[in-house]
Parts: sequence; C-alpha cells; structure tokens
Amino acid sequence: MAKNILVLSGSPKKDGNTATLVDWLCQGARNSGAQCEVIQTAFLKYKTLGCTSCRACQKLAAYECVICDEAQPVLKKMAEADVIVMATPLYFFGPSAQLKIILDRMFSLYKWDNVAGTMVTPLKGKTLVVLASAFEDIGLDALAKPFELTATYTGMKFVSLLIANAGTSGHIADLADARNKAMTLGADIAQEKRT
Ligand SMILES: Cc1cc2nc3c(=O)[nH]c(=O)nc-3n(C[C@H](O)[C@H](O)[C@H](O)COP(=O)(O)O)c2cc1C
Repeated sequence: MAKNILVLSGSPKKDGNTATLVDWLCQGARNSGAQCEVIQTAFLKYKTLGCTSCRACQKLAAYECVICDEAQPVLKKMAEADVIVMATPLYFFGPSAQLKIILDRMFSLYKWDNVAGTMVTPLKGKTLVVLASAFEDIGLDALAKPFELTATYTGMKFVSLLIANAGTSGHIADLADARNKAMTLGADIAQEKRT
C-alpha cells in the first residue's frame, strides 16, 4: 500500500530553503508511489500561542487537542500518517517557533498509562523525519536532538537530513548534493528503506 507521508513545513518563507527541500523530498517520495501532503505550519490560524498546558487532552479517551483551531486537524492527520516529516530552518540552534508550536501541541497524542507504566500513543511505530537547513555548519545537531529524543520516547523511528551551509533563503536550489539527498530520502521513506 502507498505510504502516507505528512510533511509539516515550519518556515515562514513560502519559497525558501525549507520549501525547496520539502519539494525535493516529496518529488522523490511521489516518484516512488507515496502520497505526500504538505502543511505550512506558519500559516495555520491558532487560537493560542502554543500548548497552554491545560491538560484537558489527558482526560479524554481520544487523542485530541481540545483547542479548536487549525492545529487540531493537523494533529489528527499525524495520528493517521505512516511517516511524519518535520521541516524547518535552523533558528538560533533550534527549530522555528512556527514548527515548535505543533511539536508542543503533540502533547495531546501522548497518554501515560499509570497501570502499565508506559506511554501510549498512536504515533508508536511511525517514522519521524527531520529535514533542516542552516546558513552555517554549526548547530543542526542541536536542532535535531529534541526530535530524536521525542521519537525515542514515543516509540517512533527517527531519520534526519541536515543541510549545513545552505545559504540564505532560496540559495539551497543551487546545491545539487542537497537535492540528491532530499530526493533519495523521499524515495527511501516511500519504500521503507530507512524505516
Ligand atoms: C531568525 C533566524 C535565525 C537564524 N539562525 C541561524 C543559526 O543559528 N545558524 C545558522 O547557520 N543559520 C541561521 N539562520 C539562517 C537559516 O537557518 C537558513 O538560511 C535557512 O536555510 C533558511 O531557510 P528558509 O529559507 O526556509 O527560511 C537563521 C535565520 C533566521 C531568519
């Protein structure tokens, strides 16, 4: 069956380096038969500035955020996807705030089972991919770490593609090596070669 890949693209630039990396990854994935949906998290309409730590989601049987805004259906799609790609520029050695909002709202997709002493989540067994670029060659490892730790904590497999020295927005288009790597990663996740 075709892989269902959900891409959360967290750059505020619609035609920048993150957008280009996402295009390449999706091209590779679609050429290999996967379905790819891209959501630009910077342009979603939110009711609150991130997770409010209300913890109302923890009292629900369903894995749902109680804040009724445009993040809610995105979280639902995450629970249904085979692969979740989180794409972001490096902003001061971390992901963009526009992506971090969604990462925190994912709290609603985790529940702690006190009896079993384990985390229960519909994300278990999926693959989390981090796709990121930076102007320089320092800090991308720091960006990837929280995603890797979250993946491990929630039983997801983790893959990353980190492109250093990508230049300012738009310049990554000139990097043939980045294009090859992103297209290959797309093809590989479509065919479960890295999952
Ligand atoms: C607010 C801000 C912070 C940034 N911080 C870093 C940084 O710490 N290190 C770095 O190498 N590049 C940094 N950059 C550059 C971007 O990460 C880089 O150009 C990226 O490829 C841009 O992707 P985009 O076109 O999708 O926005 C920063 C850019 C901005 C606007």
